[in-house]
Amino acid sequence: MYSKKQLMDWDKEYIWHPFTQMKDYMDMNPLVIQKGEGCYLVDTSGNRYIDGVSSLWVLVHGHGKKELVDAIQKQSKTLCHSTLLGLANVPSVILAKKLIEIVPKGLSKVFYSDNGSTSVEIALKMAYQYWQQKGEKRRKRFIAFTNAYHGDTIGAVSVGGIDLFHQVYGPLLFKTFKAPSPYCYRCPMKLRQETCGMACVDAFEKVVKKHHEETCAVIIEPLVQGAAGMILQPPGWLNAIWKIAKEYGLLFIADEVATGFGRTGNLFACEEERISPDFMCVAKGITGGYLPLAATLSTEEVFNGFLGQFDEFKTFFHGHTYTGNPIACAVAVESINLFKKEGLLQKLQQKTAILKNSLDRFKELTHVGEVRQKGFMVGIELVKSRKTKRSYAPGDKIGQKVIWEARKRSVIIRPLGDIIVLMPPLAIDRPTLEELVDVTYESIKAVTGS
Ligand SMILES: Cc1ncc(COP(=O)(O)O)c(C=O)c1O
Repeated sequence: MYSKKQLMDWDKEYIWHPFTQMKDYMDMNPLVIQKGEGCYLVDTSGNRYIDGVSSLWVLVHGHGKKELVDAIQKQSKTLCHSTLLGLANVPSVILAKKLIEIVPKGLSKVFYSDNGSTSVEIALKMAYQYWQQKGEKRRKRFIAFTNAYHGDTIGAVSVGGIDLFHQVYGPLLFKTFKAPSPYCYRCPMKLRQETCGMACVDAFEKVVKKHHEETCAVIIEPLVQGAAGMILQPPGWLNAIWKIAKEYGLLFIADEVATGFGRTGNLFACEEERISPDFMCVAKGITGGYLPLAATLSTEEVFNGFLGQFDEFKTFFHGHTYTGNPIACAVAVESINLFKKEGLLQKLQQKTAILKNSLDRFKELTHVGEVRQKGFMVGIELVKSRKTKRSYAPGDKIGQKVIWEARKRSVIIRPLGDIIVLMPPLAIDRPTLEELVDVTYESIKAVTGS
């Protein structure tokens, strides 16, 4: 056994943490997690914390769910890994069939990878190659949205729109056309939601009109731009964007990495606006949060564009070593089964309403600018001045301070700048959900002095 102190020291000595200013981190005592129990994380001292962001938006049924642990154990005794390059394995076949049964109509093929960024990278490469092989050589660009986040690989960053994360890589990125996202609280077009008539849809159409002949596809996070701070699209917006893309013959990539598997209330966000994308990227919740797995789903039309004689080289020359890992696929199959077995989405409706009610009182806090919620995705935007919507200075580290305060109160959450995010596991029970919200409220109040 290693001592608690040893683990903390080695963490600081050896690990470079993602999205973390390591200078700050080195000055802190790291919190080392040892166990997961339902919707709780337990540290090396035995302290329990509510897992308020589902271990980075992945947890669905809670930690240590018997059915999922059993599925992993059973599969690992049978086959741990075998490549999908020219070979098949049992769980990947079963999962592919299951996925096609539950995703929006029109999607018929599954290409596996192991994280959200690669699932996006694959969609971009497929869309590009599809047009190249169709003889439409001019189509080399993508239309994406301001504030978009599609992952951290270079292709995914090229279609991203969060300057803080993406600007520094500018010289490495390919050119993308950007349309304004509907960040209604801070409208990039300086309009008011009540009267704008969704002018950003027209702005998108203008970009499409101008560039459609050189564009492969439109890429979008349906319903919610997650990493930008849970920015919600007004009803009808997604459907309008999709219709325009289709009218101009563009492929449509729905990045459901964050929104997929129940997060927004439906199994997939696309369902709410009745859209059928040409590609759908899924990851995070696909395994219920147990193992890394992702998939890029595409249509028959796209798939057929890659068929040809061996020496025509229309092959999709892309694949990762752990593509279609049998253990990850087996646990994903079981996780999807549990949605139905446990009536998860039906129960979620009620819990979403409870969450909505309990978030109401946040509006009383002087430094809460806006509370945004879609299903089990919540963003609470903190501002220095509610009247002018002025943000805090980055050096104030307001978001960070709130999560440290929450940690003292046995809740683990993670902010996006000054936006406090709540992403509880879908299976959370009512008392734990209420405690999560209460602690968040008290923590914001303590830090902002509201
Ligand atoms: C919409 C979206 N796409 C892609 C990604 C990247 O996923 P991953 O971190 O698994 O690479 C994320 C991660 O938050 C995301 O929210």
